[in-house]
Amino acid sequence: EKGTYPHFMLKEIDEQPFVIRNIIQKYQNEDGTVRLDEDIRQAMKSSDRIYIIAAGTSYHAGLVGKQLIEKIAQRPVEVHIASEFLYNMPLLSENPLFIFISQSGETADLRGVLVDVKEKGYKALTITNVPGSTLSRESDFTLHTYAGPEIAVASTKAYTAQMAVLTLLAVDTANAKGIELDFDPIQELAIVASAMETLCDQKEKLEQIARDYLATTRNCFFIGRAADYFVCLEGSLKLKEISYIQAEGFAGGELKHGTIALIEDGTPVIAIATQEHVNLSIRGNVKEVAARGAHPCIISMEGLEHAEDAFVIPKVHEYLTSLATVIPLQLISYYAALHRDCDVDKPRNLAKSVTVE
Ligand code: F6R
Repeated sequence: EKGTYPHFMLKEIDEQPFVIRNIIQKYQNEDGTVRLDEDIRQAMKSSDRIYIIAAGTSYHAGLVGKQLIEKIAQRPVEVHIASEFLYNMPLLSENPLFIFISQSGETADLRGVLVDVKEKGYKALTITNVPGSTLSRESDFTLHTYAGPEIAVASTKAYTAQMAVLTLLAVDTANAKGIELDFDPIQELAIVASAMETLCDQKEKLEQIARDYLATTRNCFFIGRAADYFVCLEGSLKLKEISYIQAEGFAGGELKHGTIALIEDGTPVIAIATQEHVNLSIRGNVKEVAARGAHPCIISMEGLEHAEDAFVIPKVHEYLTSLATVIPLQLISYYAALHRDCDVDKPRNLAKSVTVE
């Protein structure tokens, strides 16, 4: 039920701090360490390469998951769009492990890949919000994202929940391999949950940004580098699907190779700057688009902010920035859709779960 909320999407955005705390509780041992099922741990440890298969928003969580697993657990990971993998399968490693990420657990494109890889004798882990779902039943292992039912068509809390569970999976694998971590993952996720609360409390400011930048525009660009690029892809998908603004997420450095031709007077460019090692280069890209008339909106992180930034997110661990950054992007999309009189919870042409190929 929506309760006092005008839309499920807004309610589900606000639920994200609780979801993260719930995930911490579900996957934490009594002594405060992370521990997943022994068979999942063994499957992760013994595979020589992980293949993440997903679609849409879950694919965007997978891109972050690759970084988390490679950085924390030092395991090579590939991320593939399910509908492409089926018809254009890459050369597989000797001992692959497949991870299917799906909020619904019913997405037909993923099921096609699952059936195929099971036939080939490979092991599969499904990360899903619906444990009894088709993908969960047909996989060897399941990790539950514990986000609670997601009703709005546009996925919000399922995405952050997927990234939180991927963090714990990476940490558990690192532990199994005896890799020493230089951060406490439970504590860092708790900091993310508090940051999310702070962000959800700034709705008025984000509504104003939506009004200033997106009330009447035809298009919008999201730019970022490294981890910020992945959240740009998610931010642009959110905006497209509920506000019908043509939006595109780009890697900051790639703009000059063609896309910058689309920048006109007043084109909104939302730039994300939460990664210290690319902070100056993304700001350089902002100057390039501003020089061509763009209307830039910089969203940065505490400690990296400059005076001209439109919005600053609280500081979180550098591996976990996407979990915080996506909140203002979700809220900006929500208010843009609202101001443009769109049906936020049930956008045109879309269904909550895509059970056809
Ligand atoms: C976007 C959205 C879709 C889904 C995609 C995969 O907001 O909801 O892009 O993420 O259809 O769905 P699941 O995760 O259920 O496999």
